[in-house]
Amino acid sequence: MTRRVLKSGAFVLLLLPVAVSADDTPENIVKYRAAVMSSMAKHMKSTSMVVGGKVSVPGELEWHAAALAGAGKNLGSLWPEGSGPGKVESGSLETVWTTPEEFQQAVKQYQVETRALLELSKGSDMKASAAQFKKVGATCGGCHKAFRKDDD
Ligand code: HEC
Repeated sequence: MTRRVLKSGAFVLLLLPVAVSADDTPENIVKYRAAVMSSMAKHMKSTSMVVGGKVSVPGELEWHAAALAGAGKNLGSLWPEGSGPGKVESGSLETVWTTPEEFQQAVKQYQVETRALLELSKGSDMKASAAQFKKVGATCGGCHKAFRKDDD
């Protein structure tokens, strides 16, 4: 019995990697989401300076790329039920919850492009990294357009 419960629990966890717990307050979930997103924006800014040759520190690229890819790992689980419009103030549109498949697709796109950037960052082809950086940026904008209020 216990074993069966444990097993099915593990199964659910596998299906839904949970980064935030149901016990967390919606306010804290929203705060956490914002903190993660802001850190992603900072890494994008640093990366743009490295791939754009504004600073001569090519060796810095890999850890920024790793941070961006790392942020993607559980990104899809940061919008649990009860953390959207009507329940708590946030920058997210209702579409996150009404079109979950499209939202998870946007997450997936972000994961694919940031992982590709991470792979490239381990080599020395800065041109290829710069091109891939643009693709990552497009996934930010793409998701914001459909799922974030006041897209900018
Ligand atoms: C899968 C969708 C998705 C992707 C991909 C995504 N974002 Fe977001 N982002 C959102 C949503 C939704 C919000 C609004 C969050 C909230 O307040 O509930 C947001 C909010 C933000 C914010 C505002 C944070 C704050 O202080 O309120 C910033 C900055 C941001 N994103 C930057 C980025 C950057 C940079 C990238 C790409 C590297 C990115 N986002 C990728 C969905 C996404």
